[in-house]
Amino acid sequence: MNGRPIGVFDSGVGGLTVLRHIRAVLPRADLLYVADSGHAPYGDKSAAFIEARALALADFLLSRGAGALVVACNTATAAAISRLRERHALPIVGMEPAVKPAAEATRSGVIGVLATSGTLESGKFAGLVQRFGSQARVIVQPCPGLVERIEAGDFDGPLTRDLLSGYVAPLLAQGADTLVLGCTHYPFLAPLLRELAGETVSLIETGEAVARQLKRRLAETDFSFEAGGGAARFFSSGDPARLEALLPRLWGRAEPVEAIG
Ligand code: DGL
Repeated sequence: MNGRPIGVFDSGVGGLTVLRHIRAVLPRADLLYVADSGHAPYGDKSAAFIEARALALADFLLSRGAGALVVACNTATAAAISRLRERHALPIVGMEPAVKPAAEATRSGVIGVLATSGTLESGKFAGLVQRFGSQARVIVQPCPGLVERIEAGDFDGPLTRDLLSGYVAPLLAQGADTLVLGCTHYPFLAPLLRELAGETVSLIETGEAVARQLKRRLAETDFSFEAGGGAARFFSSGDPARLEALLPRLWGRAEPVEAIG
């Protein structure tokens, strides 16, 4: 059997940082991407609300033939991945902040985790810190307002700079030499983060590792995901024109975006 697309979703454009890695490791896979921009940001919403959105988006992607799902969002993974896996017997890959690699990489013994409140307050994140936190001191930093700046396409304007430097400075002041980008939107701010944090601080994101994990999971299934034409289709629950305007910069080419309810 062949021709199954991979369904990927996030609250908005953040998941594109993961989609780019998926495209790199699976160049011939057909991809479906949903930006749930009509309900973004997820970061300060209840876990029940995010779970309901994740279930609805998964249903949509499956109705379009998806044979595997990637929850390209740390917040939605924390809130909904268990329920998604209970409900659907197909490969489902999620994201979590890279606490383990950061704890292994730090030289100062202090790591900073930038993520949404939803991720940082989740039981899943508490479990991560319990497992790997003994190797390093873990300082968490919720970043309200940052996702909205990224959704607006503002990656280094004055408002974004002020917000981000306010979030990063306390981590550096406490000795963090390793920063975990625990939200899929934040890799778009990596150049600014590098400028604010300096060359000696390590920035750790998980998009590439997740793409490789997806490839391994797909190899265990009976479906072929690599026999497609390498097409990508984009959907938005918000204003499709907004995503369309950002795609050339964030995906590297212009693509049409279809509206979903
Ligand atoms: N990109 C998402 C994450 O990885 C969520 C951002 C948001 O909508 O608050 O957590």
